[in-house]
Amino acid sequence: MFKLLFKYTKDGWKSAMLGPILVILEVIFDLGIPYAMALIIDEGINNRGGDINYIVKLGLIMVGLAIVAGIFGALSGISVSVASCRFTRNIRSAMLEKIQEYDFKNIEKFPVSSVVVRMTSDMRMLRMAYTSIIRTMIRAIVMLILTAIMIFRLNSALANVFAVAIPILGTGLIIIMMKARPRFRILMSKFDAMNAGLKENIEGIRVVKNFVRAEYEEDKFEKVSKDVLKSQRYAENVIILNQPLFELVMYACMIAVAWYGGNFIIAGSLTTGQFMSYLSYLRQILFSLLGISISLTQIVNARASVDRANELLDEKPSIDDSLADKNLLVKDGSIEFNDVSFKYFDEAKKDTLTNINLKIQSGETIGILGPTGAGKSTLVQLIPRLYDIKQGQIKVGGRDIKDYSLYNLREGVSMVLQKNLLFSGTIKENLLWGNPYANDEEIIEACKKAQAHDFIMSFPDGYNTVLDQGGNNVSGGQKQRLCIARALLKKPKILILDDSTSACDTNTDKKIQEALKNKLDSMTSIIIAQRVSSVKDCDHIIIMNDGRIDDIGTHDELLNRNEVYKDLYETQLQGVQNG
Ligand SMILES: Nc1ncnc2c1ncn2[C@@H]1O[C@H](COP(=O)(O)OP(=O)(O)O)[C@@H](O)[C@H]1O
Ligand SMILES: [Mg+2]
Repeated sequence: MFKLLFKYTKDGWKSAMLGPILVILEVIFDLGIPYAMALIIDEGINNRGGDINYIVKLGLIMVGLAIVAGIFGALSGISVSVASCRFTRNIRSAMLEKIQEYDFKNIEKFPVSSVVVRMTSDMRMLRMAYTSIIRTMIRAIVMLILTAIMIFRLNSALANVFAVAIPILGTGLIIIMMKARPRFRILMSKFDAMNAGLKENIEGIRVVKNFVRAEYEEDKFEKVSKDVLKSQRYAENVIILNQPLFELVMYACMIAVAWYGGNFIIAGSLTTGQFMSYLSYLRQILFSLLGISISLTQIVNARASVDRANELLDEKPSIDDSLADKNLLVKDGSIEFNDVSFKYFDEAKKDTLTNINLKIQSGETIGILGPTGAGKSTLVQLIPRLYDIKQGQIKVGGRDIKDYSLYNLREGVSMVLQKNLLFSGTIKENLLWGNPYANDEEIIEACKKAQAHDFIMSFPDGYNTVLDQGGNNVSGGQKQRLCIARALLKKPKILILDDSTSACDTNTDKKIQEALKNKLDSMTSIIIAQRVSSVKDCDHIIIMNDGRIDDIGTHDELLNRNEVYKDLYETQLQGVQNG
């Protein structure tokens, strides 16, 4: 936690230092009060026989001390809040920045819901612990030390009571903390699970309704929230032992002090005033200890959160481009796969792609067909290096893809993913993701190619139509066309469409393919499709099956020699004729 604290206080050092200093001042003024009290009783009442002037004077001093302590207290509260908010804000930004560096593998490791919890609830825990360390913990420790000094000065024999009590309390607290920490980690991971379920349900609410699965979903949620409840109890069960332990020690001390103190007064070695202030010091000591224990609880909670934050911050992207030549640009759209084999997990028994050899010239259009799970998406995702290969070599523009910086490689290779996404904002803003510097003409040209221009213009606000989060207010096919236009705007050397026209009607699909075949801009296009008609006119068609390339050829060649292709073509053709 302190490592994190040092690293992310950054611009907040002033308020971070101010907090503890103000707290210490507050304590010093607080402690003057019982001291003045003792003087009132011993001097004012006993020695001077009820000197009213003296008593009023000291009474006013007590009020003054209380006011000054209160002011310091309020100021420290403010500066601690400021410091803790700055601190967590810095961590949060660091997390977001880190996530941007993640590759697909890292992203798969941290589900969205878990990241959200780490950035919100966990950060709140951390902020509470931070506040508590300074406001409660430092205060309590300073208080403890100063009162201990005062007590020993008043009467060292009575002070022995604490010499016994404090180690007992301390040991108890440490044991409780050690037991609680792992339990809080479990609790946070249950929270993650609950949030994941919740997110899925709410995001998919339309599907849930459609399938009348509300009850099932409710049961499922009930189960995970019970799980959270259970682990919360499990964790809190340890923590609540604090209170009885504390009270036990407190009352034992009270009794011991009353007993010994009474005897000392009778024997004449202690004055009543001293005894009174002694009792209030005693209360202050014990409350400091309670403060320490509460604050330790929060620190334990926060430790679990800090671990989770660090997990996210320390994650190493598995794709490293630090050695790449930053000036190397993708010069043309040629692609080469040499003996590439790939699997998502090192421990997987079977390769997802086996022995892929492939040569694509710049400017060609390539179709890829194959059953789902054949590895089509995997194959194309390797080109912009969304995953790294361990075996074989992939070249783009004549150079190994590892020679390029990720930025330059991905500038050259534009990909429309199978699961695509638009962001909230206007259509135009979304399109500009492809190229922030594109002018209106270029935008319209890309949209015309992607067959998006006409439907965009049919909206009352045209290109300024506002899209919902995830683009839920346009149809699936329209969304796909917007995504294609966005990818085209990048003017990439290689354009990859992963099943990106599946929701478009055959006619629109055909027009998009024709527009892409326009050889003028010498862009290589790779089109993954379900329909033969989508790839029929491509220069080459790749047939994939079970992680291998089964066949490569033109439509006519494949029709002649490839049974699977022929069957597929004929059934789909019939479908069109009958439909
Ligand atoms: N991110 C991933 N992590 C692990 N396995 C994956 C991942 N994506 C795909 N796979 C697996 O790789 C195989 C090929 O998938 P994919 O390339 O998506 O096939 P296609 O696009 O041809 O339908 C499938 O068996 C799939 O389960
Ligand atoms: Mg796929």
